[in-house]
Amino acid sequence: MTGPLVVLGATGSIGKQTLEVAANLELEVAALAARMPSPELAELAKRYPGATIIVAGGSTEEREQLSATLGRPVRYGSESVLEAAAAPGSIVVNGIVGAAGLRATVAALEAGNRVALANKESLVAGGPVVRAALERHGGDLLPVDSEHSALYQCLVGESIDDVSRLILTASGGPFRGRTRDSLLGVTPEEALRHPTWDMGPRITIDSATMFNKGLEIIEAHYLFGVSYDRIAVVVHPQSILHSAVEFLDGSWKGHLGHPDMRVPIQYALTAPERVTSLADPFTLTGLRLDFEALDRDAFPAIDIAYEAGRAGGSAPAVMNAADEIAVEAFLQRRLGFTAIADVVERTLEEVKWTEVGTVDDVVAVDAEARAVAAGFIAGVC
Ligand SMILES: NC(=O)c1ccc[n+]([C@@H]2O[C@H](COP(=O)([O-])OP(=O)(O)OC[C@H]3O[C@@H](n4cnc5c(N)ncnc54)[C@H](OP(=O)(O)O)[C@@H]3O)[C@@H](O)[C@H]2O)c1
Repeated sequence: MTGPLVVLGATGSIGKQTLEVAANLELEVAALAARMPSPELAELAKRYPGATIIVAGGSTEEREQLSATLGRPVRYGSESVLEAAAAPGSIVVNGIVGAAGLRATVAALEAGNRVALANKESLVAGGPVVRAALERHGGDLLPVDSEHSALYQCLVGESIDDVSRLILTASGGPFRGRTRDSLLGVTPEEALRHPTWDMGPRITIDSATMFNKGLEIIEAHYLFGVSYDRIAVVVHPQSILHSAVEFLDGSWKGHLGHPDMRVPIQYALTAPERVTSLADPFTLTGLRLDFEALDRDAFPAIDIAYEAGRAGGSAPAVMNAADEIAVEAFLQRRLGFTAIADVVERTLEEVKWTEVGTVDDVVAVDAEARAVAAGFIAGVC
């Protein structure tokens, strides 16, 4: 698989690891997009003098300053991000965080491009819309999330009708084994200390609350078309088994390796081909793999996600939007850790369920849910 890379969210954890993979495979990088002008983006832009540089936001002064530093124009605004995503023949890595990534996923798929999707929120908030764009325009959607990449790879050559269950593994995050009461006073610093993965702040907090796994349950549903009662979660602290598929005949296929996002990122770029990667050699000798049941009382996010997923329509978008707002408030110490789930639950109760048939429907529901969640948070401060 070749084609110039468009890296959305280039300054983030996924974006930077994508550029490591691209350098190793000597892939052309056509465009780099971030939310804001920043020294990090300037550094990347200098490394890729031929790439179009795009910022979705930032002040005019900041953008002009970046452009002057680089000695080349910087494109500005969400529309420019969408244009880059829709450049024909591109491989678009969507490493934007949050529901803000949905439009770019849809634009890329509508242009018939391959999307290497890290932005799980695209599928959670806009699953039916993304699926329709995929089916109508002949693009290609490859998951970057390590669990979904694992499932995807286990399903190569298989029929989805022969699958009895998809088993998502979860590291359990920094608070594995803790009771709900003991989580009341945890700080952002504690929650940001993930045991196995080094990721951006939102997904790290979501891993601590388990909302990340909740989002992934919904992501798996829309990616593979498997019903929620056939998607299971098991806690596996070492993050070596990245996920597994159970088939009707009782056989299991699992995907193992180091927890290294460069491997699923690379697979999403090169599939179905496999090429040597930057991953350290992996061996089973001396490894220990543990598995345990999830504590659904300490981590209510899982049940909230199953319920939102089963409700379908706007519910997953509402869940995601409320969680984005609640996580931000937690990081700013305006909300307690366990209150994140409370805010999400109350927002789901408050926002009226609707069908979501277009990106605009999703954007409207997302905005309403954010406002409702912000109101609840203001009420508890
Ligand atoms: N990190 C991982 O290992 C990992 C694993 C699996 C899945 N994911 C998923 O990948 C996505 C990115 O996660 P991350 O950990 O890489 O997040 P991150 O480190 O916080 O990076 C987010 C990136 O998105 C950019 N961005 C935000 N809003 C944007 C917008 N409207 N337009 C263009 N760019 C925008 C940010 O730019 P600025 O720097 O300018 O703010 C930054 O480059 C999330 O959906 C996450 O769930 C991540």
